[in-house]
Amino acid sequence: MRIIIADDYQEMSRRAAAMVSSQVILKHDSVLGLATGDTPLGMYKELIKLYENKEVDFFDVSTFNLDEYYKLSIENKQSYYYYMNHNFFRHINVKKENTHILNGMAKDITAECRNYDQQIKNDGGIDIQVLGIGANGHIGFNEPDVNFEAETHLVKLDEMTIEANSRFFSSKDEVPTTAISMGIKTIMQSRRVILLASGAGKADAIYKTVNGKICPELPASILQLHPDATIIIDKNAGKLLSDD
Ligand code: F6R
Repeated sequence: MRIIIADDYQEMSRRAAAMVSSQVILKHDSVLGLATGDTPLGMYKELIKLYENKEVDFFDVSTFNLDEYYKLSIENKQSYYYYMNHNFFRHINVKKENTHILNGMAKDITAECRNYDQQIKNDGGIDIQVLGIGANGHIGFNEPDVNFEAETHLVKLDEMTIEANSRFFSSKDEVPTTAISMGIKTIMQSRRVILLASGAGKADAIYKTVNGKICPELPASILQLHPDATIIIDKNAGKLLSDD
């Protein structure tokens, strides 16, 4: 596990964008695994700048998002479908048909999940997976007490996640309590993983991810076993690491 401690959020975002863009420059038809939430927004802005400066071309790239809320329509501004189109896809030249986001409205969720895992395999597997982390150590929506062997599946959101994500909704009651998420197995099968974190609120989860016991209570701890994982964090998220 490599650890990059950036001075601040901007540097963290630039370092992450550099890793993703170099992946695409070296392999034009790369398969990118993408995350939503506040943390990767700066990275998406940097990637858009690189695209506008003609330093990277997304024409042959395909993407798979980590997760989506269950039963939230794609028109809903809190859906991850909306987030990805609004914050990234519509600003670059990725082909719409090459972007994959789980359909939280699918009638048969089990089939939706199986098809998603199969599509990832059909596209050759994920070359680089971008992850954020919850203060409770979740990656994707794989909450504490995770089953490490699961592929994409329906998950019940942790109380802490519902509370944290209520900032995006007008009230906590509106936050969906379930979601569909790539499983840990899906994530671990990616060739490279980069995990981003910013702010002191993530410091404890980052400390445990790097130094803690590998256990289902802290889902991100499994990344210690990934052969090519890089953690890119700002100083605040890394503040408990520097004392070691
Ligand atoms: C988002 C996702 C989540 C977030 C995590 C951190 O697709 O899978 O694991 O990465 O909840 O969210 P932020 O960045 O908003 O703190």
